[in-house]
Amino acid sequence: MAEAAAGAGRGAGRSGQRSPMAVYMCRAVLPAHAGPRGELGAGPLLRWMDAAACLAAEKHAGVSCVTASMDDIQFQEAARVGQIIAITTKVNRAFKTSMEVGIKVTVQDVLTNAEKIVSVAYATYVAKPVGDGKVELKPVQLLSAEDHLEHSLAIERRRIRLGYVQVFQKLMQESNKEDTCEEKDAVSTEHTHVQSTELVLPPHANHHGNTFGGQIMAWMQTVASISASRLCRSHPILKAVNMFKFWGPSFVGDRLVFNAIVNNTFHNSVEVGVRVEAYNCEEWIQDQPRHINSAFLIFNALNDKGELLTFPKVKPTTQDGVRRYHGAIARRRIRLTRKCMLSAKGDKPSDAWETSNQAYLSYSNIAALTHLAGKPGWDITKTLDNVKIWTHEEGAVLSFKVEMQVKVPSHVAFSLLSDFSLRQRWDRHFLEPYTVAVRSVTLRAVPPSPEFCRSEILCAGFQIHSNSSSSCTVCYFNQVTSGVMPYLAANLTGSSKSIEDTALECIKFLEQADSKC
Ligand code: COA
Ligand code: ADP
Repeated sequence: MAEAAAGAGRGAGRSGQRSPMAVYMCRAVLPAHAGPRGELGAGPLLRWMDAAACLAAEKHAGVSCVTASMDDIQFQEAARVGQIIAITTKVNRAFKTSMEVGIKVTVQDVLTNAEKIVSVAYATYVAKPVGDGKVELKPVQLLSAEDHLEHSLAIERRRIRLGYVQVFQKLMQESNKEDTCEEKDAVSTEHTHVQSTELVLPPHANHHGNTFGGQIMAWMQTVASISASRLCRSHPILKAVNMFKFWGPSFVGDRLVFNAIVNNTFHNSVEVGVRVEAYNCEEWIQDQPRHINSAFLIFNALNDKGELLTFPKVKPTTQDGVRRYHGAIARRRIRLTRKCMLSAKGDKPSDAWETSNQAYLSYSNIAALTHLAGKPGWDITKTLDNVKIWTHEEGAVLSFKVEMQVKVPSHVAFSLLSDFSLRQRWDRHFLEPYTVAVRSVTLRAVPPSPEFCRSEILCAGFQIHSNSSSSCTVCYFNQVTSGVMPYLAANLTGSSKSIEDTALECIKFLEQADSKC
């Protein structure tokens, strides 16, 4: 769903409509870009992705920008020598000094004309004019429905991004530190330690001498891949990069020292961590490094028949090693949760409620509701003075929307309908339309019971649009599993009036509560 769009979707294909704010980049995959398997190496690809995304950021900001962070990147498809890589990037939302850029990478086959998605990623860039000043960014112009969708989802992704460290720390506190590998033939992680040093030269940096983030990522992946190969005696393939942040800049003339080690293995995959430190000539002698970046890369490896290899178990030998071993498990948990939540199909059963997935639950609720609201094909079923009921049919799924004209300002409706009533006081980015999204979840304390068929809310919530300073339109959406269908059908065929009665009660509730405020 939203993941596939990245806000950079339009124009990515050869026939698509072009967006004026997007940046398009094409590269032919040459032997110099390929690894030993004849496939495009992750290093050049990361460099191109960062370069194209930085150009989109600068197109919006009008000043130089630097990479602040990159969200999790997954690689779905390999590109081979002779194929074409097409990258589309676009600013989805500008915050204050930073902006989210959506990056969509596809591979196009010249001979068959086929096009496949390689990766969809999101990165954050900060406007950095020459000197120390900060630039406050102008809002992004929203021209299409997709622009609106990505704009409203970008704020949710920002919440996940900025909350990542807390989620990780919470999982680390909960993890069982005693639980490390006791197998006799486990390989010591020390065996996978790799160190490499690079001198930053002008081609590695922008015109202000700042090292390109993508260049650093490319170097990191080379070192990490060598570290992973120590375990599998094969050429590892990069599958994913964990969300990471560039802590500080580095410049032409800096020496970058990369230290990599395997943190843990998970049957068919391995996590390698890389820490990058920068020194200038004097710092180099005095051993005063600047921490630039740390990243965690996930690799697979294949045997000659193209089957996934099993990685041996690893055994950390130091205190730091044990901490990183557990860190890798926590990151894997977050990664899998994210994948599971964000690939959610509309009719999938409810997700389990866990500490690690609250942010993703919230994101997927809002994404689902925003998609539902934006779907074409809503039919009006009933019209009263101030209530309209709409339905939407798609395959076996029926959804309804109740639109209410309410004589209260939209912000009052929002605070009365949700628990997020104080959010505007601390979140200056939160703009209309207000959204309250809910979805059924499974609680461990209340497991499914075979005698009962649970009805589930697949997607429901409110969108509240302001009409004037004293009135708003409240839209209530609901998409439910079949258990609730008879209730809905009775309402829609006229044998029951409970939806409209509830809507009228809702209007009364809001207007009366407002007059008391
Ligand atoms: N992910 C996304 N955005 C982040 C972030 C992260 N992990 N950390 C900070 N930001 C955002 C903040 O939310 C803020 O955005 P806003 O102004 O739109 O609200 C913006 O970055 C600036 O944050 P602030 O706290 O004021 O500054 P900082 O001191 O943390 O500096 C950088 C942030 C990115 C400018 C700084 O860390 C830096 O220079 N990093 C190196 C960048 C670089 O050179 N990259 C290329 C490779 S070397
Ligand atoms: P953490 O130790 O919390 O994971 P760091 O930023 O110190 O965070 O390091 C990130 C990753 O880089 C580590 O998980 C590890 O895999 C790798 N790493 C860090 N320091 C070294 C080192 N001295 N030698 C080898 N690998 C290292």
